[in-house]
Amino acid sequence: MGNADIAMIGLAVMGENLALNIESRGFSVAVYDIAEGAVDRFLSGRGNGKRFLGAHSLEELTSLLKRPRKIMMMIKAGSPVDETIEKLLPYLDAGDILIDGGNSHFPDTERRVKALESRGLLYIGTGVSGGGEGALKGPSLMPGGSPEAWPAVRPILQAICAKADGAPCCEWVGEGGAGHFVKMVHNGIEYGDMQLICEVYALMKDWLGMTPEEMQAVFAEWNRGDLNSYLIEITADILQKKDTDGAPLLDHILDAAGQKGTGKWTGIAALEEGVPLTLIGEAVFARCLSAMKEERVRASKVLSGPKKTPPQDREAFVRDLKDALYAAKLISYAQGYTLMRAAAKAYGWNLHYGNIALMWRGGCIIRSAFLGDIKAAFDRNPELENLLLDDSFRARIEAAQDGWRRVCAAAMLQGVPAPAMTVALSYYDGYRSERLPANLLQAQRDYFGAHTYERIDAPRGKAFHTDWTGESAQGAVSSTYNA
Ligand code: 6PG
Repeated sequence: MGNADIAMIGLAVMGENLALNIESRGFSVAVYDIAEGAVDRFLSGRGNGKRFLGAHSLEELTSLLKRPRKIMMMIKAGSPVDETIEKLLPYLDAGDILIDGGNSHFPDTERRVKALESRGLLYIGTGVSGGGEGALKGPSLMPGGSPEAWPAVRPILQAICAKADGAPCCEWVGEGGAGHFVKMVHNGIEYGDMQLICEVYALMKDWLGMTPEEMQAVFAEWNRGDLNSYLIEITADILQKKDTDGAPLLDHILDAAGQKGTGKWTGIAALEEGVPLTLIGEAVFARCLSAMKEERVRASKVLSGPKKTPPQDREAFVRDLKDALYAAKLISYAQGYTLMRAAAKAYGWNLHYGNIALMWRGGCIIRSAFLGDIKAAFDRNPELENLLLDDSFRARIEAAQDGWRRVCAAAMLQGVPAPAMTVALSYYDGYRSERLPANLLQAQRDYFGAHTYERIDAPRGKAFHTDWTGESAQGAVSSTYNA
């Protein structure tokens, strides 16, 4: 029997850095990579002279581990994970623990947890955020899956993760695919935060005519206040980076965004759960629109917009932008948390929302001071229905909303696209509406399809139908159901 504490399968950037991080905390790590020569290169390179044991097959890898075995996979999501599990199975014993740290789709993790548990094995799907540097120095970790596995892996995962105000940014998320679900929502929120910053940048550059230096100074200042976050910090850095010719590098980067799919999954999950996740949805679509570069270039030659008028008070508008960014960001997190609540109910996960904020507070891409405030809001009320209903956030959005409205109005009037910022305001106005025009919508549905409606003067659930034209087939009503 071997005596390595844990195994790492996959020595690409994330796996290699995580393995180094684990070893640096005093654990011995057995390593394996499917690519020929990768293990030996690692052992003679960055892994040299440390507590690493190399394996050249999965069978050998499993022989190097203490029992119960703990085996972490940092490999491409999708079929490679299933294939690796299949190949490992013959060498595993009851109680062994498999950990998938890739960006796996949560239904896959849900399925794998069930399949492995039925064979007496334990399975964890964990979100890992923070990029290569985070993996090496302290990522945010979001583990979920077989609860019995948590006590065994906790000492390792909480040793290697980021710490925020001394607390580990790694807690047990919940059963089944909960860990990967929470990581997926994290990524969706990451898309939203990034898109909002891009919209602010567009208004600064294309309407206010600010220089990169001016914008850099504003983002750097915002990073010292309540917008303090990794993404604002790197935006300030990016703005001051020069290309080899001395021009801002940003001006030379093609405006066509890529995406690997986690934002799209978040949007699909929201549609499945019937949760209005409008800001993240717009952030995904904004990437799609940006990717239609050649078509946009053709359209730009023939479609006109408004003639821009100069801003009256640039400094005041920059202050409005700060309010708008804060308020829209709050909407995005409120929507993301609503999605997590809905999914927790649908999948039977027992999510702890304050802990999720704590896990995101440090180490990950969306780390921010703001997440500390979200943690505090859930500490005040663990059952908080919507972040907007927390007294402190309610006061913040009230104070920010005039500036936010001016920013949205200016974007519309000047023809600068700000889809995430504006859709957030529409959500806010919808959410705070006692009465929406859905009465008309219900009437329309009943008119053309006898879909029935409820009345304000009757108990909920009681269905009414009107013969709107006096010509409909006698008594025929469609069944009522909600998707
Ligand atoms: C993280 C990131 C990471 C993500 C990349 C790429 O938390 O470290 O979310 O997991 O995969 O940032 O995402 P896109 O290619 O979809 O932008």
